[in-house]
Amino acid sequence: MTELAMLRDNALARIDDASDAAALEVLRVEYLGKQGSISGLMKTLGKMTPEERQTEAPRIQGLRTEVADAIAAKKAELDDAELEARLTREVLDLTLPAPQAPQGSVHPVSQVMDELAEIFADLGFSVATGPEIEDDWHNFTALNMAETHPARAMHDTFYFPDVDSDGRRMLLRTHTSPVQIRSMAEQGAPIRIIAPGRVYRSDSDATHTPMFHQVEGLVIGKGIHLGHLKWTLETFLKAFFERDDIVLRLRPSYFPFTEPSVEVDVGWQDVNGRRVLGGDGDAPGHGWMELLGSGMVNRRVLEFAGVDPDVYSGFAWGLGVDRLAMLKYGMDDLRAFFDGDYRWAEHYGFSPFDQPTLSAGVGARA
Ligand code: DAH
Repeated sequence: MTELAMLRDNALARIDDASDAAALEVLRVEYLGKQGSISGLMKTLGKMTPEERQTEAPRIQGLRTEVADAIAAKKAELDDAELEARLTREVLDLTLPAPQAPQGSVHPVSQVMDELAEIFADLGFSVATGPEIEDDWHNFTALNMAETHPARAMHDTFYFPDVDSDGRRMLLRTHTSPVQIRSMAEQGAPIRIIAPGRVYRSDSDATHTPMFHQVEGLVIGKGIHLGHLKWTLETFLKAFFERDDIVLRLRPSYFPFTEPSVEVDVGWQDVNGRRVLGGDGDAPGHGWMELLGSGMVNRRVLEFAGVDPDVYSGFAWGLGVDRLAMLKYGMDDLRAFFDGDYRWAEHYGFSPFDQPTLSAGVGARA
């Protein structure tokens, strides 16, 4: 057998034995690569006499073609086998239900905040924000709670170990009221804002969580009086609860930042053992529920915020957003608001498309 014939038989046998694409590639390089043995034979043609070349060239080129074809055929065979194996391995059960598209829902607290913004925008209020990490001047002092004021102790404040560059103690704000100070200091008067947001107190049970939400309201202008306060809150609550029979009762109270201060109660009535807001709380089967704190902004607070109390007056209120959501949408455990339980969120949450608008109803559920 000639050398060429031995090379041919050996190459074809090894190609046929190749078990996978990688092994086949090694053989391709070995025979047909730049340094390959068949490529080497091709190079010998240049040194031959024309006569020799005439007989050798077709034999060597024929060998090259035969080996290249064998490699291509083997490659196709291996690819087919690989595809076949994958098709049996990766079983697709077409009778299974399609996977659910990822879904989220809007938390009731976010929804209520959107409802508040919508209602108050209609009354000419804009939404203001302030930092959750506050200093004790904005959170207390400027709200007429001096260092030694007993109301400070009642706030169960989370303090940071550090003080800021002005030597003020840093804390997690205990209420949204510091936004009153910041907004007046920045914008001056007149002003009409609501400030919804997170607040923090070291307190925890079924109706208290260390973090909860409030919405602050502030109206400062010329000749603003308590009547404006009552009308504004009544108009807001009627829109929010979507009932015209919301009745408010103002009770004298005390907050350092308001003078006079009033506690606002809302009337409820018993409907099949459930307390439903609306109706005159003094009637039989009716009652009053404490809803929020408010009052005419204390002169000292206006002064702290750089507003002239001889020219301007106004009112403010603070209200629990989580509590509002519970009253409107019927949840009874505040802790569930912050557990992150997906089933709760799915049940009480809102569709992102369910945007509150006054025209469509601020509480419309899809
Ligand atoms: N900041 C008070 C609190 O957290 C609530 C409050 C009461 C806010 C009266 C006010 C107000 O603006 O006038 O308990």
